[in-house]
Amino acid sequence: MNIKTILVEKANAAMLAAGIPEGSNPAVTQSTRPQFGDYQINGAMGAAKALKTNPRELAQKIIDNLDVSDIAAKTEIAGPGFINIHLKPEFLSASIEVANQDNKLGVAEHVAPQKVVVDYSSPNLAKEMHVGHLRSTIIGDSVVRALEFRGDSVVRQNHMGDWGTQFGMLIAHLEDLLNQGVDLESVALADLESFYRDAKKRFDDEEGFADKARNYVVKLQSGDAHCEKLWHLFIDTSVKHSEEVYKRLNVTLTRDDIMAESAYNSELNNILTLLKDKNIAVEDQGAQVVFLDELANKDGEPSVFIVQKSGGGFLYATTDLAACDYRSNKLGADRVLIFVDARQSLHFNQVELTARKAGLLRDETSYEFCPFGTMMGNDGKPFKTRTGGTVKLADLLEEAISRASDKLAKRDSGICDEEREEIARKVGIGAVKYADLSKHRTSDYIFNWDSMLSFEGATAPYLQYAYTRVRSIFRKSGVDSNAFSASVSILEPQEKALAIKLLQMEEVLDLMINEATPHVLCGYLYELASLYMTFYEACPILKEDVTSDVRDSRLVLCNLVANTLRTGLDLLGIEVMEQM
Ligand code: ARG
Repeated sequence: MNIKTILVEKANAAMLAAGIPEGSNPAVTQSTRPQFGDYQINGAMGAAKALKTNPRELAQKIIDNLDVSDIAAKTEIAGPGFINIHLKPEFLSASIEVANQDNKLGVAEHVAPQKVVVDYSSPNLAKEMHVGHLRSTIIGDSVVRALEFRGDSVVRQNHMGDWGTQFGMLIAHLEDLLNQGVDLESVALADLESFYRDAKKRFDDEEGFADKARNYVVKLQSGDAHCEKLWHLFIDTSVKHSEEVYKRLNVTLTRDDIMAESAYNSELNNILTLLKDKNIAVEDQGAQVVFLDELANKDGEPSVFIVQKSGGGFLYATTDLAACDYRSNKLGADRVLIFVDARQSLHFNQVELTARKAGLLRDETSYEFCPFGTMMGNDGKPFKTRTGGTVKLADLLEEAISRASDKLAKRDSGICDEEREEIARKVGIGAVKYADLSKHRTSDYIFNWDSMLSFEGATAPYLQYAYTRVRSIFRKSGVDSNAFSASVSILEPQEKALAIKLLQMEEVLDLMINEATPHVLCGYLYELASLYMTFYEACPILKEDVTSDVRDSRLVLCNLVANTLRTGLDLLGIEVMEQM
């Protein structure tokens, strides 16, 4: 159910009937103020300009042909030619009743589902996951959840970095430790950060080690069984580390979603041959290079995209071209969404241009690089530890939980310790996720513990608390909220505002999945919770002088608010609780 879509269809028909040529934008929007109605059709102005006629007169012609009697109580022209639509309370009541009885809140599934490949999280396995991977992981995961909720078919791809020269150094170091009998799980690889540091130190300082490391890279690439075994051992442990983080973060990625860089190894030669045959890649100083005039600099020099190094080695770039081929030609994706730091935008631009020329990406596949900004510390610089090191994601999440626990302990809520730990986990993780997801994807933002854990303002704790408040009404009223339904009547303006907001979930989800921007859902849930608070103040529910019809009608609104908050937060990967 999507009020906007209904109005767009009706407005299109009316515009056509009013003599406006097809394709003119009806420009339907939500009204910003109640006096402008609930929705507006703003397309008369644009059309009048094109037809060189009077916009108010054209607006009147549109209204004369507009068939909205089933949904609108009133339509009126305002200003230079806006058409304000006031929705009918009966239409809202009936739609709320339907949404309340639907386990998808009245949000329809796509009639023509798309196949969407989503590349997200994608950490490098040589090191521990750090805060830079937080954004890709949680933004990607919430978009994936929303796509699936709308009925699209999603292929998750965790494009893990498991290949490259640093693995020679790592497995050479690993081998020595194994020979010394060091326990792998609990000692050597318990902390990948220090393992990497030790290996790097040996690579730089220890005689003969660098040669051995390079030799192992070559062996690994030629399929040497011993090196491969060591490599698998290392990769497996590193993957386990990320799985722990995924579990903590409540993201849906599993081992089956891993489509790491090495998965494309056998294709890289074919990709190169194709690029050479089509004269897309040419030799330059021993390397194979694609020159891209489309991305030329101010001096007209083409952008340089290396697909094979002079020594014959392939790169991150070559792998991404192979990934295009797999996703577009093999999987037949309609969309490919890639959630990566904005600093890689040139790379993905080069990948797309090259892949399109080579036919590695079909025209029918939309390739969408979805960049995100940097998480900053309070000093306005990229988020680091006190000593300037990278912050391990696992540590950050533990700190979130312990801070949430301290905060909850200060509230006298009568909840036992064990339950409180569970709540602290949901609040702490939720707070980190909401604080991140609620910012526009492409902006940099400042990471601040106090504001994200606050119970006031747009935060996860505020929304989780709002949810518990709605739920407590059902506990007090004694009605069973499972499958609760009743007939709804919209009487007060606060009820109308709340009902309209509730019916906008589909609109919000569409925006979120089209633009890959979870912040729109975050903002929506906050507005919904705020409108609920206003409604709750103005419209008594369980007071004695409220008739049972009014009480039940309001309880339906409460029920749908609770379900929408829970479902919406779940699409963000944030859990709710019954009490806090
Ligand atoms: N592993 C890369 C990094 O940590 C991100 C990979 C993103 N996906 C891709 N297809 N290149 O920066």
